[in-house]
Parts: sequence; structure tokens; C-alpha cells
Amino acid sequence: MAMASWASHSFFLVVFCLVSLALTGIHAEESESKEFVLTLDRSNFSDTVSKHDFIVVEFYSPTCGHCKKLAPEYEKAASILSINDPPLVLAKVDAIEEVNKGLASEYGVQGYPTIKILRNGAKTVREYNGPREADGIVAYVKRQSGPASVEVKTVEDASSFTSDNKIVIVGVFPKFSGEEFENFTAVAEKLRSDYEFGHTMDAKLLPRGESSVTGPVIRLLKPFDELFVDFKDFHTDAVEKFIEDSSLPIVAEYNTDPNNQRFLIKIFNNPNAKAMLFLNFSEVGDAFRPKYHEVAEKYRSEGISFLMGDLETVKGAFQYFGIKEDQVPVIIIHTNDGKKYVKPSLKPEHIEDWVKEFKDGKLLPFIRSEPIPEQNNEPVKDVVADSLQDMFLNSGKNVLLEFYAPWCKHCKDLAPILDEVAVSYESDPDVMIAKIDATANDIPSDFEVKWFPTIYFKSKSGNFLLYDEDRSKERFVAFIEKNRDKTDKQADKPIDKQDSAKDEL
Ligand SMILES: *[C@@H]1O[C@H](CO)[C@@H](O)[C@H](O)[C@H]1NC(C)=O
Ligand SMILES: *[C@@H]1O[C@H](CO)[C@@H](O)[C@H](O)[C@H]1NC(C)=O
Ligand SMILES: *[C@@H]1O[C@H](CO)[C@@H](O)[C@H](O)[C@H]1NC(C)=O
Repeated sequence: MAMASWASHSFFLVVFCLVSLALTGIHAEESESKEFVLTLDRSNFSDTVSKHDFIVVEFYSPTCGHCKKLAPEYEKAASILSINDPPLVLAKVDAIEEVNKGLASEYGVQGYPTIKILRNGAKTVREYNGPREADGIVAYVKRQSGPASVEVKTVEDASSFTSDNKIVIVGVFPKFSGEEFENFTAVAEKLRSDYEFGHTMDAKLLPRGESSVTGPVIRLLKPFDELFVDFKDFHTDAVEKFIEDSSLPIVAEYNTDPNNQRFLIKIFNNPNAKAMLFLNFSEVGDAFRPKYHEVAEKYRSEGISFLMGDLETVKGAFQYFGIKEDQVPVIIIHTNDGKKYVKPSLKPEHIEDWVKEFKDGKLLPFIRSEPIPEQNNEPVKDVVADSLQDMFLNSGKNVLLEFYAPWCKHCKDLAPILDEVAVSYESDPDVMIAKIDATANDIPSDFEVKWFPTIYFKSKSGNFLLYDEDRSKERFVAFIEKNRDKTDKQADKPIDKQDSAKDEL
């Protein structure tokens, strides 16, 4: 387990995995008849994709549940798209197959299934972010194969375009040329797998809002919050940022709605701090929503993304953050560098002050810690996050500290050995052997704990060393003797221990 497991991204994975589990359904059987999906591998991949102006490629793993569920839908979509004019091709690559692994990593495949849309003989590659059932795949792929932005000419165009409770971006232009139009089209091309784009010369066709708009203007329509937002800066970077920012809900909810997952993914991939409000929706949801929304609106352009989740949906989060369910309503701000700020027993009227204190740097980060043990009489001492400072960093001793995980086999094997080492130093007040459960305590980033056990040594004067030698009693003792700082008194003594240690080196 890496240090990164304490970062917010992995928190997302915790929540997201719960969600994925909830979504995993029945596995349908693949049909035995003619396959419309092309099977590709390393040997014929380049040849095939270079022949296509447009091809969709699924990288899958034969054992992944989501891939099995997708397979019959993908096949059905491929059969429908094969008689499209022009025919559109869906292909698949077994990304687990040894020969294809290079191919998969070339395409940045990290999970399964990953679906990519390759254009112009694979010169442009974009993510497939569309639906996972046949009709949805067909509609999405057809749209992706056409122009990035479609012209809206009639009321019917406009209503079919915007009907689906989705995010749509429409450019209103006096003419379909010029720099504004070109910039809009360039952004549409870039973001087309995530959003639908349209353009029109007639603002009256646009749903929602007045019709006095003459343009050029960009209107983003969304089925939540303020429903539409207009934008008039046509610099490509500004347009892109506008779309990414305004398409996220002011407050995103943790839930299992598949349409919501894209928001959560975007939020967890951006570098903002995440403010997360956890409470019992049915109990106090309504009391908190308006105030939280108001605070979110005020602070969301200041590097904080706002989320809220029902106690029921986010159970995993409590353990992850080391907080208790009886502390709800609780708000946590998790920063990109892994710090956590926690306010339990929150009241709606306190949200704003607390967020402001966070912004002003007035809050202390929360450290997850096991309780400091009342008894610590074993030869190997127990350290917890709250006692790390006193027992390790400022202990005034030479300390060997093991970071362990309760489930780790090597740690279990090591336990009796460390015990022996500790016993041999029991009469030496200058040396301490200790251990800390790195899964139950937050570990400061000064320690790099990439695997278990990870063992650090700190000499009395503060020299820090990572222990990476054999884990035998003799080696430990030799290491400690070599690196410990001795008091004058000890240096005067005939040093048996040190000599014998030297012999072993
Ligand atoms: C590519 O090669 C694989 C294995 O060699 C084969 O199963 C597959 O049908 C080939 N695909 C195409 C489109 O030729
Ligand atoms: C279009 O975008 C480019 C940057 O990509 C920018 O330099 C240019 O000023 C933009 N044009 C307009 C009219 O905003
Ligand atoms: C939320 O509150 C309701 C009403 O008080 C209660 O019945 C329910 O058990 C609570 N849910 C959880 C997960 O505690």
C-alpha cells in the first residue's frame, strides 16, 4: 500500500468501487453467431486502424464483470452500426493478452473496459464517454462520427437536441465563419466526447431564457442549478475552462446514479480541495441544503469543490477518514496534499464561518490516530499517530520504528525477531524498538511507506535512516550499533556490543 492511498484520489476509488459494485448486474451470454465487433491484436491493430477514418476500440479484460456485461450490448450496437451509411466499425482488443499489453499502455489503458475513439487513422484519439447499452452506444457513436457541432435550424432540431436532461453547449453566431466560430468549433472538437455541441444563427430556437441574444455568444444548458449560463469570451482556453467549470454541479452528490459518476470523476481528478458534507439526508438534508449551496456558490471559484453524501451511501468514507458515524452532520475538507480538516456535529449556520477559516489558514489538520495505549509494557512499544512526535521524533532516544499492516505476512514473521531485538536492548535506556499500525494511523508525509513492513531508524541526534537490510536479529543489532548516537558515558565503556556487531558486518 502506497502513501498515495491517503490521498483524495484513492478516497474516490473507495467510494467509486462501492458504486461500481452496486451497478454490477447480471452477466449476459455472448451470442455464438457472426461477430460484428472486429477482434484486433498487436499483429493487425495498426493496419486496421490506419485504414479507418473513424473506429471505436474497446480494451477489455476477459474476466472483468463490466466488460462481460458490455459485450452483448457492444456486439448488438456493432451489428446496427454495420448497416449505417457509411458503416461504422466497433473493435475490441484483449488488453490482458501478453502481446497486447504494450498496445494497451500506449493507449493509456488503466481500467477495463476502456473505450477509445480513433479518428483519421488513429491520428486523434479521444475517450469514449458514452452509454453502455446498445441503443445508447449507437446514438453516441453516430454522433461522434459526424461533425463536432451540429447546426440547429428548427425548433424540432433544438428540442431533440436538448431534450435528454443532458449538458449541451450552443454557439449563437451571426455567421458561421470568423475567429469566434472557428474557436468554438475547435473546442467542440476537443471536448466532443464529453458534451454535445450545436450552433445556430437564430437565438430564438434556444430553450430557456430570452430570445434577444444576437451573438456571438455561447450558451451552456444544463438540467440543474441555474439551468443555463452564457459566455462571451471566445479565447479557446477560456471557452474550455468555462465549459468544464459551469458543467459541474455547484454541489455534487455522492450517489449511485450513473449520470452522476462523470461529475464525481471530474471533481476527483481536479486539484481543488474537496469539501464533503456527510449527514443523514432524511433527517437533516433539507435543513443543510440551502445554506451549503449558498456557501458552495460563494467559494467554488476559490479552489474548493463541494460535495455532499447521505450516511447510507458513504459508509466507507467514515472508516477511511477515521471519523465516527455519530459525529454527523460532519464536514471534511480534504486537500490535494492529503491534509484533512474535520468539523463534527456541524450546524447549518456554522458552515460558512468554518469554510472561511479553512480558506484563511486558521484550521489545524485532523490526524487520524488510534488511542494512545494506556499500557505500553511489551518490549516492542506501540506508537500511534498522536504519540509519534513524543515517542519517535522528540524521544531523545535511538528508535527503530516498524510501520506495519495487521494483514501483512512479512510483518507477522518479523514480530518475534523484533521482540528479540527489543529484549536485548531492554536494559539500554537509549534504544527503543517500536511499531505503528500504518493502516489505522495517518502517517506524515516525511515517511515514505510504500510497502509493509517499512522500517525507519532515527538516531538520538535526529539522523533519519531507512532500514533495508536482512531482517535478522543480528542485522538489526549491527545496524543499530552502527548508527546510534552514544552518550559520553557509553563511549567510555568497553563496548562489547559494538565490537561484536562490527564482526558481523
Ligand atoms: C487479427 O488477428 C487475430 C489473431 O491473429 C485474429 O483473431 C483477428 O481475427 C484478426 N483481426 C482482423 C481484423 O484481421
Ligand atoms: C481564439 O483563440 C485563440 C487562442 O487559441 C486566441 O488567440 C484568439 O484571440 C481567439 N479569438 C477570439 C476572437 O477570441
Ligand atoms: C436517518 O434518519 C432516519 C430518521 O431519523 C432513521 O430512520 C435512519 O435510520 C437514519 N439513517 C442512518 C443511516 O442512520
